[in-house]
Amino acid sequence: MSIAKPLPHDAARLHVTGTARYTDDIPTPTGTLHLAFGTSKIAAGTITAMQLEQVKSAPGVIRVLTAADLPNGCDVSPSNHDEPLLAETTVHYVGQPLFLVIATSHLAARHAAALGEVEITPTKPILTIQDALAANSRFEGGPRIYQKGDAETALSTAKNSLSGQITMGGQEHFYLEGQAALVLPLEGGDMLVHSSTQHPTEIQHKVAHAIGKPMHAVRVETRRMGGGFGGKESQGNALAVACAVAAQLTQQPCKMRYDRDDDMIITGKRHDFQIDYTVGFDPDGRITALDVTQYTRCGWAQDLSLPVADRAMLHADNAYHLNDIRITSHRLKTNMQSATAFRGFGGPQGVLGMEKIIDHVAQHLALDPLTVRRRNYYADLIADVETPATAPVAPPSNTNADNASRGADKPRPTSIPAAPKDVQTTPYDQPVTDCIINALTDQLADSCDYDRRRKSIAEWNAENPILKRGIAITPVKFGISFTLTHLNQAGALVHVYQDGSIHLNHGGTEMGQGLFQKIAQVAASRFGVPTETVKITATDTAKVPNTSATAASSGTDLNGMAVQNACDEIRTRIEAHLAEKHQTGNIRFDDGLVKIGKDVITFAQAAASAYENRVSLSATGFYKTPDIQWDRIAGKGRPFFYFAYGAACTEVVIDTLTGENRILRTDILHDAGASLNPAIDIGQIEGGYVQGAGWLTTEELVWDDHGRLKTHAPSTYKIPACSDRPGIFNVALWDKPNPAQTIYRSKAVGEPPFMLGISAFMALADAVAACGPAYGDLQAPANAEAVLSAVQRTRA
Ligand code: MTE
Ligand code: MOS
Repeated sequence: MSIAKPLPHDAARLHVTGTARYTDDIPTPTGTLHLAFGTSKIAAGTITAMQLEQVKSAPGVIRVLTAADLPNGCDVSPSNHDEPLLAETTVHYVGQPLFLVIATSHLAARHAAALGEVEITPTKPILTIQDALAANSRFEGGPRIYQKGDAETALSTAKNSLSGQITMGGQEHFYLEGQAALVLPLEGGDMLVHSSTQHPTEIQHKVAHAIGKPMHAVRVETRRMGGGFGGKESQGNALAVACAVAAQLTQQPCKMRYDRDDDMIITGKRHDFQIDYTVGFDPDGRITALDVTQYTRCGWAQDLSLPVADRAMLHADNAYHLNDIRITSHRLKTNMQSATAFRGFGGPQGVLGMEKIIDHVAQHLALDPLTVRRRNYYADLIADVETPATAPVAPPSNTNADNASRGADKPRPTSIPAAPKDVQTTPYDQPVTDCIINALTDQLADSCDYDRRRKSIAEWNAENPILKRGIAITPVKFGISFTLTHLNQAGALVHVYQDGSIHLNHGGTEMGQGLFQKIAQVAASRFGVPTETVKITATDTAKVPNTSATAASSGTDLNGMAVQNACDEIRTRIEAHLAEKHQTGNIRFDDGLVKIGKDVITFAQAAASAYENRVSLSATGFYKTPDIQWDRIAGKGRPFFYFAYGAACTEVVIDTLTGENRILRTDILHDAGASLNPAIDIGQIEGGYVQGAGWLTTEELVWDDHGRLKTHAPSTYKIPACSDRPGIFNVALWDKPNPAQTIYRSKAVGEPPFMLGISAFMALADAVAACGPAYGDLQAPANAEAVLSAVQRTRA
C-alpha cells in the first residue's frame, strides 16, 4: 500500500536539480514571437490619444495592438465580463494593460512597450475604503448581511461590551515562477496552449471565446506551476488570451511572461480588509453577542471578489460557537489591481477578525486569551459521529469492499448524521458535528508546555524592560468545499498498458502542493502496485474536460475520488476476467502481484492477460461532493462537506525601542485526517504557517495617493526569508480519520494551515500587552513600525 507513506514529491529531484520544466522552459519553435503589455501610469481616467509610432518602429517589433484591434472583445474576467484584455476608453488602475506589443524577443517587446505615449484625462481615483464608501462604489449593490439569532437585542442586554477595529493588509502571492503562457497555432486555426494556471478549463474557455471558436478547438496543457497560491486561478487569463490572439493574427507561436515588477503591478493580490466590531460578553469572557462589519477593497474588477468576501463572512466565527451574530460585508470597488484568490480565499481575513475580538475581550478582562478561546469553542461532538476515531483508514486495495458505492452518479452517503434540533450550528446554520478543536488544543497546549512557558515568559518580561516576549495559541476551523456548489466535481482518465504500467490523468493541477504525488499513491494503491508503476501526466483539457480550478484546497478530495473510481472500474474488469479464467472469486491485488485463489501472477501478467482477452484497460472516473447545498444570498445552508481543524502556538520576542521582532518557537498540531502522505502534508503546514505569518508581519503593500503600488519588487516587499522561520518549529499531525467519506478519510490541507500564522500575530499582541497598562491594539501587518506604535499606545 502506498497510501499514508511519507514519499517525496514526485518532482522533488527535478525541482532541486533545476530540471523541472515550467512553461517558460518549454523549448519554443523557431519563429516564436514574444509579447509585452504597455500599461497605464494613471489610476483613473479616459484615454484621449495613444501615440504608438515609437513603439511600432522599435527594433524587433512585429505588431502593436490596441483594444480596437481585438476580435470578440477579448474579455478576461473569470466572473463578470468586466475585464477587457486591453482598456477601451476608461482606465481603472495603474498597471492596467493598454496596448500589446508583439516582437521577436522578450526584451524587444518589453523595451518597446515602455515607449508608448498614452494621453489620459485623469479623474479622481477611488483608492481607500473611505473613498469607496463615500462614492458608494461597490460590487453587488449594497452590503451583504448574514445573521443568526438577534445580535442587536443580545448586545443591548450584554453584561459587557467592547467596540474595536482591525485593519489588515493584502498580500502579494510571490509565486517563484511568474505568470507565463505559450500558444502554438495548429492546423485549421486550432490552438495548443501551455499555461501556468490553476485553471486550464478557464483558460480554454477564455481563449476559445477570444479567437471565436468552440472550446474543442483549444487544448490547454499544464504540467506544473512554480507556485500559484490562488494567484493563478484567474490572473493567467490575460497572458493566454493575448498569446492566442497574437498567434491567430501572425500564425506564429506566441509567448508571454511577466517580469517580476510587471507581475506585481499588473496582477491582483489578497484583499485587504477593515473589520469593525461590537462584542457583548459575560465576565468570564463568554461571547453573548457579536456584530461584525467587514469592508474589503476589491480593486477595479469583480474577478473572484464575491466568493472571497462570502468566505470571509463564513469564517467570521472561526472555531467559536456564537448564537446572536450579525455579519455585514461591503465589497468595495477601487482603482487598484483587481484583488483575487489567495490561499484561504477570504477565510484568513474573517478568522483574523474573530481572533482579534477574542484577544480584545481577554485583554479587557485580564484573562489568558487561551482561556477565553476555550470558553467560546464549539463543543467536540466527534463521538457522535458514526466512524470511531480509531477506525481503519480505508478499505484495503485488495478487496471489493467499497465497490457497492462506486459509480459516477450514485451519491455517496455522508457519515455525518443529520443534526438534531439542538445541535450547535454556525452563523449560516451548518451543523458543526465534526469538531475536535478542544481535544486538539489540549494536546497541543500539553506538548508545547504552554502553561509553564506562559509563566516563565511573565517572569522574564518582569525582569526585562527592553525586550518583551509573548506567546499565543490560536485555532483554525476551515470549511472544505467550493461555495459555488457545482464546482465540487472532478474527472479522471486512467489507462493500464499491456505491460502493466499505468498512465494517470485528472483535472487537478500541480503547483508544488504535492497533489500529483498524493493521487499517484491513490492510483497505485487501488491496483496494489508501487507508485513507480504510475506515470503522472500533465493536466490536459483534451483528456479530462470541464474541470474546476485546483483551489479551495479540494484538489485531492475531488480528483483523488475521481481517480479511485476510474481505477476501480478497470480493476473490476480485470477481476471479472481473471475470475472467469481461473474459476475463482478470490482475487487480491497486492505488492505488484495479483493473487487468484492459489495462483500468483504479476500485475503486468494480469494486464497482458486482460488485453489478450479484449478487456478494456482504460476508464474515466467522476466524482461530485455529496450533501452540500448553499444559498449565498440568504447565507444559509450547508456549504461545506466538512471542516479541517488545527492549532498553533507561537512565541515571539519584540524590541520595544525599535519594534523589531522575531518568532522564537512554533508548535503546530494540525488535522489532515488520515494523511495520504505525512511528509507532503507537513510541508504544506510548514509552508502555510510561514506564509500566514509573513502576511501578518513583514509583508506590506504600499500604494501612494495616486494609486501607484510602491512595493513592486523584493527590494521593498518583504516575504519571509529562510532566516525568518521559527528557530524551533515542531509540526505534528492530528492523524485521525475524517468522519466524512473522503478519499482514504484524508482531509484537505492546502489552505487551512495558512491561518495558523495568526498565532504569530497574536503572540506579538501578547508581547505588546506586556509593555504597559493600556490596550495596544496591534494592527496588521505587524511590521516593526506597527509593533512600535502599539507599544507606545500601551503606555499612553
Ligand atoms: N502549496 C504550494 N507549494 N504551492 C502553491 O501554490 N497553493 C495553495 C495550497 N498549497 C499552493 C500550495 C492553495 S491557495 C490551494 S487552494 C491549494 O494548495 C491547492 O491545492 P490542493 O487543493 O491540491 O491542496
Ligand atoms: Mo487557493 S486561494 O483556493 O487557489
